[in-house]
Amino acid sequence: MPGASTGNIESVLSEDRRFDPNRSFTQRAQLKQELLDELCRRGESDPVSLWADLAREMLTWHKPFTATLDRSRAPHFAWFSDGELNASEACLGPWIRNEPDRPAIVYEGEDGDSRTLSYRELGDAVERLGATLRGQGVASGDRVVIYMPMCPEAIVAMHACARIGAVHSVVFGGFSARSLYDRVVDASAEVVITADAGRRGGKFVRLKAAVDRALEYGEHPVRRVIVFRHSGEEIAWHDRRDRWAHELTEAAAADCPAEYVNTEHPLFLLYTSGSTGKPKGIQHSTAGYLLHASLTCRWVFDLREDDVFWCTADVGWITGHSYVAYGPLASGATVVIYEGAPTWPHGGRFWEICERYGVTVFYTAPTAIRALMKLGDELPGKYDLSSLRLLGTVGEPINPEAWMWYHRVIGNGDCPIVDTWWQTETGGIMISPVPGVTSTKPGSCTRPLPGVHAAIVDENGEEITEPDRGGYLVIRHPWPSMLRDIWGDSERYRETYFGKFGDDCYITGDSARRDADGYFWIMGRLDDVVNVSGHRLGTMEVESALVAHPSVAEAAVVSRPHEIKGESIFAFVVLKSVPAEEGVPPSPGSEGVPFSKPDAVQRELRAWVDEQLGPIARPDDLRIVDALPKTRSGKIMRRLLRSIARGEEINQDVSTLENADLVRQLMQP
Ligand code: PRX
Repeated sequence: MPGASTGNIESVLSEDRRFDPNRSFTQRAQLKQELLDELCRRGESDPVSLWADLAREMLTWHKPFTATLDRSRAPHFAWFSDGELNASEACLGPWIRNEPDRPAIVYEGEDGDSRTLSYRELGDAVERLGATLRGQGVASGDRVVIYMPMCPEAIVAMHACARIGAVHSVVFGGFSARSLYDRVVDASAEVVITADAGRRGGKFVRLKAAVDRALEYGEHPVRRVIVFRHSGEEIAWHDRRDRWAHELTEAAAADCPAEYVNTEHPLFLLYTSGSTGKPKGIQHSTAGYLLHASLTCRWVFDLREDDVFWCTADVGWITGHSYVAYGPLASGATVVIYEGAPTWPHGGRFWEICERYGVTVFYTAPTAIRALMKLGDELPGKYDLSSLRLLGTVGEPINPEAWMWYHRVIGNGDCPIVDTWWQTETGGIMISPVPGVTSTKPGSCTRPLPGVHAAIVDENGEEITEPDRGGYLVIRHPWPSMLRDIWGDSERYRETYFGKFGDDCYITGDSARRDADGYFWIMGRLDDVVNVSGHRLGTMEVESALVAHPSVAEAAVVSRPHEIKGESIFAFVVLKSVPAEEGVPPSPGSEGVPFSKPDAVQRELRAWVDEQLGPIARPDDLRIVDALPKTRSGKIMRRLLRSIARGEEINQDVSTLENADLVRQLMQP
């Protein structure tokens, strides 16, 4: 297979292995060849009527809809827009009524402590917290920030918001106080739900303390912080602002009637990185989102009530929304959640959990697979993984070697693997194998799901039909679970996602190619986004954080491939020069004063990024340089920096650089 290229993105992957679906899986699968063909045919010729039928079939409506797709505010599309429903009620209600004792959530803490909540218990907790929020003056449409460990109460908090029509915005517990502050302010949230602390890798993650710090950064709208007692850690208390969740919920009414909202009512905001420094509040709808999350649980995970589903994502990411908090609960499955690191206290932890709870469908990220693969085949071999019937992966391209290991060692050579491509913006899985039907190729997410008009286009928006030629991955027809807006910035929404090829052509920001069989191969991001351990981080965000340090004059951040994380962050930093005035006592790291040792600078700046953005954004490499290479128009030559960071040969024209020695210096470790 020839190498394909889009701009500077080269694909040299050649993969000829093919795996047919396993027979016994196919026999039991809910989505079989015939039905899939029919859905694809309808999805192609009349996607609007297909989505309407699916929405009627899959969702519990309070008021049925009559209109399907409203294009009047394109590219802000509305779906099923005269209907009403409640997302939490639609997910949990049927199961609470019909099978209240079925386990909904099985939680395992890092210390091995375990708790199970039935659908009834989950529903009760949601109603109590919903009533509490109402009692605290939270109304439909108000934003509530959730900053929680991965525990059942995080899911309870999301559903409690949904139950009363409040818009939740979950901030990943690994993000720093500064990031939390920015998100609280952007969402203008008056209430924050948190916990004393979480656990990860044997350490406490002090969430309440981070909330306290966040609320000291500046002006903010927060009037109430509701705190779950989780780890028992001691915390500081602000009498006027803070309340214990258990005290409020004990005093609250036991029932909380659901708020039925219009289908387009925002269910949640979730902040994600783009190519500028400011995170984007991705706004999702209620009905369209829930439809896709539930439907893909059936189509892609073949999920049913007797399944024990474990998606290892934190609720702070979109995967933890669609495939922990909403989709699988709407399917009546039992959802496993684990609060802790995959290798704590030993490398077999994931497999131990699969064995303990009889996990049937397991969904994780390539970065976790690579990290666990490095530990060898013996560890998984110690556990009984025979309950697994389907494996999934998401977040970044999976390298064929990791795919093969997953297939052979975890799936015993027998489990289908679904490599699912999607994004925070798409709300649910878009391109993926259908496990009972699609033959898979390691490293390819295969074909778009029915109703998803994915295509690869060139610079002019023309479809590329030639096999293996890379281009822009786009979606050429609106779909129900697409984002509706960027919170408070419709201009940016329009520009980022529709600016290039018009209102009907959503731009994913990824490049991809299609092989001769029509299979999609994702080649990476086209914008300045780094994919660290399956999480998108804007390089601009890290640059902004670095430049906010008093000693930093300029910074440029690029990615380089990393064996486990997929990509890691490489920062080039120019420090401010020493001030000319005499008599100023040197204080390393303060405004304009250099550090005495380069190591100390690097340590300080890494810690600074931790503080500003969280450990996930910490640069693995940080090189102090005299200047950054720039074009005549003053643009930083990022391609050059990328080549240097990757140790590649320099092909770019550097003749315009003023300081010819600069390249040599940039290359010095
Ligand atoms: O570049 C693609 C990559 O992750 C990006 C979306 O990141 P985020 O919004 O954080 O959501 C991650 C979880 C859905 C995409 O633009 N990506 C996601 N899944 C895959 C992938 N790249 C290749 N293969 C995948 N299966």
